[in-house]
Amino acid sequence: HLFFQVDKFLYHMRLSDENLMDVSKRFRREMDKGLGRDTNPTAAVKMLPTFVRSTPDGTETGDFLALDLGGTNFRVLLVRVSSNGKQKVEMENQIYAIPENIMRGSGTELFDHIAECLANFLEKLGIKDKKLPLGFTFSFPCQQTKLDESFLVSWTKGFKASGVEGRDVVGLLRKAIKKRGDFDIDIVAVINDTVGTMMTCGYDDHHCEIGLIVGTGTNACYMEEMRHLELVDGDEGRMCVNMEWGAFGDDGALDDIRTEFDREIDAGSLNPGKQLFEKMISGMYIGELVRLILVKMAKDGLLFQGHTTPDLLTTGHFQTSFVSAMENKKSGLVSAEQVLRGLGLDPSPEDCVATQRVCQIVSTRAAHLCAATLAAVLRQIRDNKAAERLRTTVGVDGSVYKNHPQFARRLNKMVRLLVPDCDVRFLRSEDGSGKGAAMVTAVAHRLAKQHA
Ligand code: BG6
Ligand code: GLC
Repeated sequence: HLFFQVDKFLYHMRLSDENLMDVSKRFRREMDKGLGRDTNPTAAVKMLPTFVRSTPDGTETGDFLALDLGGTNFRVLLVRVSSNGKQKVEMENQIYAIPENIMRGSGTELFDHIAECLANFLEKLGIKDKKLPLGFTFSFPCQQTKLDESFLVSWTKGFKASGVEGRDVVGLLRKAIKKRGDFDIDIVAVINDTVGTMMTCGYDDHHCEIGLIVGTGTNACYMEEMRHLELVDGDEGRMCVNMEWGAFGDDGALDDIRTEFDREIDAGSLNPGKQLFEKMISGMYIGELVRLILVKMAKDGLLFQGHTTPDLLTTGHFQTSFVSAMENKKSGLVSAEQVLRGLGLDPSPEDCVATQRVCQIVSTRAAHLCAATLAAVLRQIRDNKAAERLRTTVGVDGSVYKNHPQFARRLNKMVRLLVPDCDVRFLRSEDGSGKGAAMVTAVAHRLAKQHA
């Protein structure tokens, strides 16, 4: 019966199909607001132009460097694109740590660190003397003016380095490299990870016109008609838009569905009042949401015989990976007991089942909210094409989508329910966004050479 008590306790977290349809419609209006020249300044969802206009045409070749900053791992990559009748991509990559004091220190230290990792990588591969073109995946909201100029709007997720907001991140990286003076590179493009993911998947599936991330943060991009992008001159063709949908609700648009736990997460975050949609969904917050719920239920005497422990009471001690483990169909219950014991609790079998149910409700809400916003994007693309049925592909990446045992299935199922007239293929990105960054770089490099 504890199971039903959890359901009652979390009544407001269980969104009905009607709720989700309503959220989807609201998001569609937010998209319009962000796209409009007059309405954009007050829009929460910024719909940022990316200056990426097309996907690779298969003729690009060369060696490219890529940086991938903003997800769980910071990576430096060398991407070799060769063509022997058929295009082939080979990659070398290295993960480098970014200590928390650098993520949240000064911007100069952060960019010096990035430059140092690059130097180390080039050294290791023995290519320090070559001036290679580089694509920079920088997974934060940026106001872009061209492919290689990108001003950070605000840090999100776990980053908060000072003196970077409002600055051009390409300029900051160039400066850090120049200061060292031991190597030179040609920074050709900055892209969001959603764009990198769309491009990586677009390499294998030419129908791919949406990129989705559900990882540390959540966001999506899609190919929009230029005529709808009022902030960019020109009406011909399409351009990729980085929606920054994590900021949905920052103007109060989701206040009716946010719960006391969502407000608590926000209040204790690095960016209060910002990224409110993201805080209901992504990996940086799901585990913490579950923890806050367990604490409240324990304090109300509903769980653990009213006991809490120092570990359970500590921010960050309930990882999102625990949620994934507990929702595993086979080993979930065993994991639940292990995790709770690991937190110093002495759970009854009922406590374990109830904890699993809390995880299920939190992660289902996350998947369904993503489905609601994605459904709005699908309707927009379908209307753009004036198609009765849309057949399209969404390229997806991120630890939550990939590691949570039920997330992908729940998301896909809800999307089908919300937009039954779209045939959607979800394609997991296996190569990360580095490959996509290299492809964008390759296209830009080819065009630059043609025009030179
Ligand atoms: C990686 C991409 O695979 O996924 C990154 O290469 C992206 O660009 C990341 O940011 C998102 O997932 P997570 O879980 O690492 O935040
Ligand atoms: C955050 C960032 C966004 C990124 C997303 C996924 O929402 O603001 O730019 O795409 O996380 O990494």
